[in-house]
Amino acid sequence: MKTTTRRQMLSHGAAIAGAASTGFLASGASAQTGKLRVGLMLPYTGTFAQLGVAIENGFRMALNEQGGKLGGRDVEFFKVDDESEPAKGIENANKLVQRDKVDVIVGTVHSGVQMGIQKVARDSGVLSLIPNAGVHAATRSLCALNVYRTSFSNSQPTKALGKLVAEKGHKRVVWITWKYAAGDEAFEGFKESYLAAGGTIVKELGLPFPNVEFQALLTEIAAIKPDAVACFFAGGGAAKFMKDYAAAGLQGKIPLYGSGFLTEGVLGAAGAAANGVITTLHYSDSLDTPRNKAFRLAYAKQFKMQPDVYAVQGYDTGLLLIQGANAVKGDLSNKPALYKALQGAVIDSPRGKWTMSAAHNPVQDIYLRVVKDGENKVVGIAAKALSDSGAGCKLA
Ligand code: PHB
Repeated sequence: MKTTTRRQMLSHGAAIAGAASTGFLASGASAQTGKLRVGLMLPYTGTFAQLGVAIENGFRMALNEQGGKLGGRDVEFFKVDDESEPAKGIENANKLVQRDKVDVIVGTVHSGVQMGIQKVARDSGVLSLIPNAGVHAATRSLCALNVYRTSFSNSQPTKALGKLVAEKGHKRVVWITWKYAAGDEAFEGFKESYLAAGGTIVKELGLPFPNVEFQALLTEIAAIKPDAVACFFAGGGAAKFMKDYAAAGLQGKIPLYGSGFLTEGVLGAAGAAANGVITTLHYSDSLDTPRNKAFRLAYAKQFKMQPDVYAVQGYDTGLLLIQGANAVKGDLSNKPALYKALQGAVIDSPRGKWTMSAAHNPVQDIYLRVVKDGENKVVGIAAKALSDSGAGCKLA
C-alpha cells in the first residue's frame, strides 16, 4: 500500500502547520477546537513493515466509520517510520510530541522501541495507545495513567501455548526466538505454563533481532530431535523461519508451535511451509461471528488485502480512542474523564469483546489455531478471559 511521506503530509497539513507557527495552536491542550492531532509511530520499513501498515489501516478504518472524526473533531495525522530501531525510539517519539504537538501517539510494534515511547509518554503526559508491542513493563512496573494497550502482553499468548504443548503430550521441547524483550517475555509465559504442566525445555535457542540466518540453529534442532519446537517470530522473519524449517526437512517430523504472530499476515509468503503449524493468539481469521465477518469484508474492500491480527489491533485502537474522545467531546485535555472512559472501555472487537485490566492491558480470550489451506483456522479456546498479571503496576 502507498504510504505518505512526512513531506507530503506536511504539505497536506499546511494550513494547520501555519496556524501552529502563529501560536494559534501552540500546544495540544490549546488545540481543543482545532483538529485533533494523531501521531502514528510505526514501522514502515524492515521486517515489521507490513505490521505497521496493517495497524494504520485498521486504525483509519475505525475512524472512517465515524466519518473520520474523533469526539466531533476532525483529525490530522502525523507519521514517523520508527524502523523497529530501539536506539531511535525516544528521538522519534519526541518528534511527534515536541515538534508536531500531537494529542495522542498510536505506536508501536517493537517492544524495544515501545520503551522509548513509554519514557516520552511518562515524561510528557501525552496519551499513548499501544497497538501491538507487548513489552511487560508498559503495563507492569512502568504503567501509567496515560498509557493504554489494545493488543496483548508478550507472555499472554504463550502462557496458553505452554499448557497446550504439554497437554499434547510433548515432553521435551526446544524453544527458539529472537533475543529481545518480545522473544524473552514470550518465553517467560511459555516456560511458566509448560514447566508447571510437567514439560522439559531441552534447549533455548536464539538469534539477534531481526537476523534470519536460521540454518545453524535448525541443524542443531535436527540433532537434538525434540518432541516439538515452540517459538516466537513475526513479520517477514516468521515467513522465512517456517520456510527454512520445512526446507530443513523438519516439517511434519517435529511439530512446530508458536505464539500466533508466527502465522499472521505471512501465510501467502510462507505457502505450504505453514501447513499444520499450531499457534495460540487472541485472534483468528476464521472466527465465525457476524462482527468478525463484517470486519473482514469491509477491510478487504477498503484496502484490497486480507486483515490479520495487526489490522484488528489497529482497528481496536481506533475504537478505544473513539470511546475516549466521545466521552470528553473531543477535549482530550479533560484527563480525569478521558482516563475514566479508557479504563472502563469495553471493546466490541472482531476478536471478541474485551475489557481493559486495571493496569491497562486487554483481558481477552486466547484461541487455539492451526494453519490449513492458507488460513488460520480456529479449533478452540486455549484460555478464557486471560489477563496479564500487571505485577508492580502502581497508578498514581
Ligand atoms: C514486540 O516486539 O513486542 C512484538 C513484535 C511483533 C509481534 C509481537 C510482538 O508480532
